[in-house]
Amino acid sequence: MSNDDVADRVEQLLSELALDEKLRLLAGRGLFRTHGVKRVGLRPMRMTDGPHGVAWHSSFRRATRFPAAIGIAATWDRALAEELGEALGAEARAAGRQMILAPGVNICRTPMNGRTFEYFTEDPYLNAGLAAAVVTGIQSKGVAACVKHFAANNQETDRMSVDAKVGERALREIYLPGFEAAVRDGGAHAVMACYNKVNGEHGVENRFLLRQVLRGEWGFDGTVVSDWGAARSSQSTASCLTAGLNLEMPGVMAKRFRAKDLRKALEADDIVEEQIDANLRGLLHTMVVTGCDRQQESPPSGYDIEYVELALRAARESMVLLKNDGALLPLNKLAIRRIAVLGKHAGKTFTGPLKGGSSGVWPKRTVTPEHALREFLPDVEFVDDAREADVAVVFAGLGHGRGQDCEHFDRTSLELPDEQVGLIRRTAARNPNTVVVLINGSPVAMDPWLADVRSVLEAWYGGQEAGTAIAQLLFGDANPGGKLPVTFPRRLEDVPAHASERTYPGVAGEVHYDEGIMVGYRYCDTADIEPLFPFGHGLSYTTFAYRDLRLSASDWDGSGPLGVELAVENTGGRPGAEIVQLYVTQRAPRVVRPPKELKGFARVDLQPGGERTVHLELHRADLGYYDEAERRWRTDPGEYEISIGASSRDIRLREALTLRA
Ligand code: BGC
Repeated sequence: MSNDDVADRVEQLLSELALDEKLRLLAGRGLFRTHGVKRVGLRPMRMTDGPHGVAWHSSFRRATRFPAAIGIAATWDRALAEELGEALGAEARAAGRQMILAPGVNICRTPMNGRTFEYFTEDPYLNAGLAAAVVTGIQSKGVAACVKHFAANNQETDRMSVDAKVGERALREIYLPGFEAAVRDGGAHAVMACYNKVNGEHGVENRFLLRQVLRGEWGFDGTVVSDWGAARSSQSTASCLTAGLNLEMPGVMAKRFRAKDLRKALEADDIVEEQIDANLRGLLHTMVVTGCDRQQESPPSGYDIEYVELALRAARESMVLLKNDGALLPLNKLAIRRIAVLGKHAGKTFTGPLKGGSSGVWPKRTVTPEHALREFLPDVEFVDDAREADVAVVFAGLGHGRGQDCEHFDRTSLELPDEQVGLIRRTAARNPNTVVVLINGSPVAMDPWLADVRSVLEAWYGGQEAGTAIAQLLFGDANPGGKLPVTFPRRLEDVPAHASERTYPGVAGEVHYDEGIMVGYRYCDTADIEPLFPFGHGLSYTTFAYRDLRLSASDWDGSGPLGVELAVENTGGRPGAEIVQLYVTQRAPRVVRPPKELKGFARVDLQPGGERTVHLELHRADLGYYDEAERRWRTDPGEYEISIGASSRDIRLREALTLRA
């Protein structure tokens, strides 16, 4: 259906609907559906939670459980993200759902955020690329993506009420680009307004965010859905309607957009019917593009779409080799007689409804790491005493309990639980070949034990096939290629959000983003802080050489794209993937700018000895910043540096660039 056809259909429906019917549509019914209007052939729009798969509590279906979003981000793979989106869309469709509440694109401002695992990254550019890809994939299956939580929902502590005081520059440069890309590049049909306030107004009634930015600047014409129950703490029916909220969810908790609320507001002249129509347009648009105004199709092939292979590939690509002293990994299957597999995370099942909150998926199958290792090593003896083993693998990490990686509550410590630290240290003291596999969805501190162990693999919450992926990576059947989408700090004091109570978790109901744009590596670079592991870091079992960086112009007028080319060669002995990162630096900026910012990346698969030319592109806007005084984007002429890195702290090539006026 073309845009014009959709718009015509929306107008036609509007003209057919009676006022009573219109008033009923703006609030949902039950937990995960809207009302329908049978008389005009409009079926209810049904929803399911995401972003890690079709969530059980909202679909009552088993579905494929994919790696957690932070792991998807660690792949830096747009094509994979799109494929994942396609799978989410197809499974949502098969479950009879027209909308999936995914992706989540809030920025990792602090690793303490309980929902870090549900989001991608600390970097707006990486966020934008992945967000657009996932949305494109979902929507290719006729299902609406609902990108959440708009905006500045960067902590779970007081999430319903806290007022995020964030300057416009930080909003524009850091917190909004993921949403913007989901809407402008991905064409997202829905956006979920957050619980929290942003600069004084709740997300559901925030005129700046909803009217000026989302609809005005980005041209959004779909549905703004309240987060579940978020409109309850808004000021009034009129404030939500005027700001442009299209749908209050869920029906059972509605307080502003029930028919009786709207009728009362109409009678009091707080709102007029044209406003109701205007807001209905957005909702009807989403209902029409997802086919709610047509006969229900029978779900494709019953409910048996399973993406086992994709879940496995995504898990494998997502895992990050953080440390590998003396190339202990990959382990050699044939040289190991005894292995000690320790730690309760070895039995991690990656399953269960509502584990960690609304993203819990209940898959039909799940492979624990220990199970996969036993299958993988039929002739190896599994021992409990690390002293008797040729190699000891300790599985450690977090879980989805309160205070760890969990919706509604923030983490309470950056450290691993004491008993795990104890186990790692004891094991390392008993066996010089100790490997730690981490299963968690947000950065953890490692200083108390990192030096004692030889290898660390960050496996995130790898989804239903995680066990197999871990076994394949540990034994070299696959080569780790993921890179960190977030900085792993040494200690919380190194995270600027933790400068004071005022900056986190907030005082008197306000949390002040005093660090502005200096989030993640931007801060570490500016303050010259050595992180535990930097943004973009990840090792491989092979090695890569970078050379021949060439810009299509060294003196650029910024009118067309600037081509950036370099060669990458696999100089080691195994096939592998390298994630090439492009950073931009302005040499003498007139305002404070981060020492470098990610503005390009590519994931390249190479056979041993293989070489590839990587083509990246820069646009004038990639050199820009948001001028808070003038309230507009600016790109200043002058001297820049283009650097190419294997991580944000491992820059391999540099070229100077002059931008002409
Ligand atoms: C969460 C959303 C979720 C919604 C529906 C809310 O509490 O913040 O992410 O989509 O519930 O389950």
